Amino acid sequence: MSSINVDQEKCNQDGICAAECPARIIRMDSKEDYPSPTSDFEDVCLKCGHCVTVCPAGALSLDWLAAEDCKPINPELAVTPEQAEQFLCGRRSIRTFKEKTVPQNTLEKLLEVACSAPSAKNQQPWHWIVVQEPAEVGRLAAMVIDWMRGIIRDDRETAESMGLIRVVASWDEGYERICRGAPHLIVAHADKEWGFGAEDCTLALSLLDLYATSIGLGACWGGYFYRAVNAYPPLFEALGVPSDHRAFGAIMVGYPKYKYKAIPVRNRPRVTWK
Ligand SMILES: Cc1cc2nc3c(=O)[nH]c(=O)nc-3n(C[C@H](O)[C@H](O)[C@H](O)COP(=O)(O)O)c2cc1C
Repeated sequence: MSSINVDQEKCNQDGICAAECPARIIRMDSKEDYPSPTSDFEDVCLKCGHCVTVCPAGALSLDWLAAEDCKPINPELAVTPEQAEQFLCGRRSIRTFKEKTVPQNTLEKLLEVACSAPSAKNQQPWHWIVVQEPAEVGRLAAMVIDWMRGIIRDDRETAESMGLIRVVASWDEGYERICRGAPHLIVAHADKEWGFGAEDCTLALSLLDLYATSIGLGACWGGYFYRAVNAYPPLFEALGVPSDHRAFGAIMVGYPKYKYKAIPVRNRPRVTWK
């Protein structure tokens, strides 16, 4: 049975674990009490680990998570607001890559960081397909073009509204606008019945994108690619997405060929202040 374990020698009875528990399943009825689980703890716990990692005394553990297993936050690594602003606003979608592959352990690290993203009910529903071989990325991109040619043939109006005619024309001229010639492609997929698959996978891919920038990689969302995955069964199968899943995002990854010198201007926030 899952529960919380409190080391009464260490616990300073500050109630922080109870206050921070998102499911309100840690009780501390008075300042003299020690934290204890509610009767529905096991059913309701999100397994977010907040209670363990917020305790300043390291007094709390869960059956599946000890305080010592959690990586400490090093204050010396905190970023300044100026660093954060430049880093976040300086990230760019990269569309020209060096002809160099990324080591597998670096791709693994990207995924590890991506998996720290927030997810509804802490479901962490994402699964990953990493296309490691540049030639395979090219083969899959060609399948997206096949899908686009089908739409152009059968439904020209939709093809025009989706901008497919120009993309296919570029392809025919030798310019690859699907995966942009990137050496690798990462696809996030999740159970199609999970109601927050799109949000959860998008957030994970967004962290991946940002972390990629921090380690000198470049990334770009493959919007055409994952739309095609879900709409074109031959591509869905070629990629190996499970039949009860849906692709919720794809991102190209590689070493950027060029470096940006400045941050482009974006729209001002459209806000209604109430
Ligand atoms: C959902 C989504 C789908 C996208 N699809 C593509 C795509 O298929 N090909 C591409 O080159 N860029 C794609 N992009 C990148 C956008 O064009 C890019 O984010 C935008 O132009 C702003 O540039 P920045 O990311 O450098 O700020 C996509 C971005 C998002 C968020």
